[in-house]
Order: sequence, then C-alpha cells, then structure tokens
Amino acid sequence: MRVLLTGGAGYIGSHTALCLLNAGHEVVALDNLYNASPEALRRVEALTGKKAPLVVGDCTDEAAVTAVFEQYRPDAVIHFAGLKAVGESVAKPLDYYQNNLDATMTLCRVMPRFGCRVLVFSSSATVYGTNQEMPLREDFPTGCTNPYGWTKWISERILTDVAAADSTRSFVLLRYFNPIGAHESGRIGEDPAGIPNNLMPYICQVASGKLDHLRVFGNDYPTRDGTGERDYIHVMDLAEGHLAAIEYAAEHTGVEIFNLGTGTPYSVLDIVHSFEKANNLTIPYEITPRRPGDIAVCYADPAKAREKLHWQAKRDMTAMCRDAWNWQKQNPQGFGDK
Ligand code: NAD
Ligand code: UFG
Repeated sequence: MRVLLTGGAGYIGSHTALCLLNAGHEVVALDNLYNASPEALRRVEALTGKKAPLVVGDCTDEAAVTAVFEQYRPDAVIHFAGLKAVGESVAKPLDYYQNNLDATMTLCRVMPRFGCRVLVFSSSATVYGTNQEMPLREDFPTGCTNPYGWTKWISERILTDVAAADSTRSFVLLRYFNPIGAHESGRIGEDPAGIPNNLMPYICQVASGKLDHLRVFGNDYPTRDGTGERDYIHVMDLAEGHLAAIEYAAEHTGVEIFNLGTGTPYSVLDIVHSFEKANNLTIPYEITPRRPGDIAVCYADPAKAREKLHWQAKRDMTAMCRDAWNWQKQNPQGFGDK
C-alpha cells in the first residue's frame, strides 16, 4: 500500500514510517513541522534505503491536502498530525480544537474524492477519563478532563459518524498508552522542544546532565510504592501496531477501536530504577506534590488487539530504557534544528 502519514515527521510517525517501509509499503508524510524536524525522515531513508518523501504543509488546509492526494494517490492514511500537550491545551483550547478537529475533518472530506477509504487514527488512553476500573477495555465508558483529550474524543466521534454515513469507509481508532524509547539504532527518537513534560524524556535529560534531578509527582497514590502507574510501550512496538492496524483496516469496513499498550503497569520509581539498571547510571530525584490532573493508575487490556490484529508488544522495560538513553546519548541536541 501507499500510505499517507499526516504528522509523519514526528515521534511516532517517523518510527511508523520506518516500520511500514521495512514491511514493503510506500510512505509519504504531510507535516507542517510545528513539532518536528525534516531530519527525522532523512534518517528513516538512510536506515531503510527507501524513499520517505515529506510534503511540508498543514493538514487543516484543504488545498494542501488535496494537492498531496493528487500527487501521491495514497491507498490509506495514518493520521498522527495533532497538537498533544495537555497543559498547553488547557491554556489554548481554541488552538487545540481548531488544529486537531479541522485536520480530522479535512482528511475525511478529501479522502473519498480520491477513492481512499482507509484511515488509522492516533487516539489516546486519555479518552477513558478518570474513575475507571483497570485494566481498561475498549468498550468502557469514555470522557475527558482536558481540551486535548476532548479533541481525541470528538475526533473518534466524528470518524464514527462519518463511517456510519458511508459504509465503504474503514477507520481504525488506536488508543495509545505511554509510548517511550526509540529505534534500536538511536538515529531517530523523541525530540521534545524545551523542558520535557513527560517522564522518560525528562529522565533522559537528567541522565545527560541537562537537567539537575527528576521531580517525582506524588508518592501518596494508592499504588504499590505510592507513585503513579502507567502502561509504557516501546515506540517500535507501537509502530508495529500501526502496521497491523493498516492491514486490518484495508480488509474491513466500519470502525474498530484498539488499545495499544502492554497491559503491565510500572510506577514512576519502577521506571527510575529500571533506567538506572539498564544503563548503569544514577538518576537523582526528589518527591514533590502531585501534578494537577494526574490519575493514580492507567493501563490497558491489550487482548482485543492481540486477537483481532494479531499484534502484541514484544519489547520489555529494559529495552525501552536502553533505547531511550541510546537515542539521547547519540543526539544530545535532538535533531538539532527545531
Ligand atoms: P509529535 O508532536 O512528535 O507528532 C505530531 C506531528 O504532527 C508533528 O510532527 C507536528 O509537526 C505535526 N502536526 C501537528 N499539527 C499539524 C497540522 N495541522 N498539519 C500538519 N502537521 C501537523 O507527537 P507524537 O508523540 O508523534 O504523537 C502523534 C499522535 O499521537 C498525536 O496525534 C498525539 O496526540 C497522539 N498521541 C501521542 C501520545 C504520546 O504520548 N506521544 C499518546 C497518545 C496519543
Ligand atoms: N511524572 C513525574 N515527573 C515528571 C513527569 C512525569 O513524576 O517530570 C509522572 C506523572 O505524574 C505520571 C507518570 O510520570 O505518573 C507519567 O507521566 P507522563 O507525563 O510521562 O505521561 P501521562 O501518563 O501523564 O500522559 C501521557 C501523554 C498524554 C496522554 C496520556 C494518556 O503525555 O498525552 O499519557 O494516554 F493523554
């Protein structure tokens, strides 16, 4: 298949591009480079020996999206493009609703004009909201606590309604848990702008000496060691989940939702200690108050993806910590041009 990756120069998009190319698919990326570097796809080309063309353009711009379809005629779309910082979405809700929802709707409008009926969407475990039993199953009730989460929830709703109105469409909604790590080569990885919000990139910058110490947000949660528990998944396992999803979507119609997680929760202190052990380093940390909006525990029931997509995460926490640090060590300035 020829697959259009919106947001394809970003963290998950670039790893998925590599995975699709290695599986024999063709890719083209549409990215406005708001949170990405063109270097990521140049490195994907070097790693695979195959072309990964990048069109610099905005997914909310119908003319730009139409031009990409006219030139490349993709068979399927994986829609990664979006703004993703929870805190920023609270401060700038309109930017989030406009960017994330317009992008989804623009794709839905343009795709059928070119006979393209298959789309895989980047959703998030955040749509499960709070006060849920664990592990989370796809049929659990949903609801959000911040504008970013609502953009994912509403996009899922839009895609479900669009598929209901046109029985030829095939949409797969992937609810990611916590992607971390990098490609084994250390050539591509996560390159956050400024001080990272997320745990693993923060730990990597402490390990490199860029940041002084980790702040552990709360040790009074009702968990094994009092710190928050999450379902961390290696980004290459996640990328392979997209390969399985796009192949599934091509053979079906309608809407299907899948969790992409491992099903195993790790606490913040588990991650600190796993990172120290995997990389033979010490991560200084202090316990600070809880971060507003955080929940105690969040992890997936990955059974549905295993059964229907024949996919499951293979890489363990040691690999996640080793590969995250390998990327950081080799690229202390990230891609260097953000
Ligand atoms: P990322 O920021 O690295 O990638 C998103 C890409 O989309 C960036 O390259 C950015 O430049 C691009 N982009 C944003 N708006 C655009 C637009 N209007 N037009 C064209 N390009 C645009 O983030 P990521 O971690 O790779 O996440 C990919 C997707 O997965 C996002 O939709 C995100 O919300 C979702 N997601 C991520 C996580 C996570 O923890 N990383 C968890 C759940 C869901
Ligand atoms: N944490 C710290 N210190 C830090 C950063 C994080 O203790 O400096 C803790 C958090 O309190 C939480 C855990 O580490 O317990 C993980 O936090 P992250 O910020 O890495 O990830 P979240 O689970 O908060 O959020 C992620 C994505 C969201 C997505 C959500 C659910 O960033 O976009 O998973 O999928 F919505």
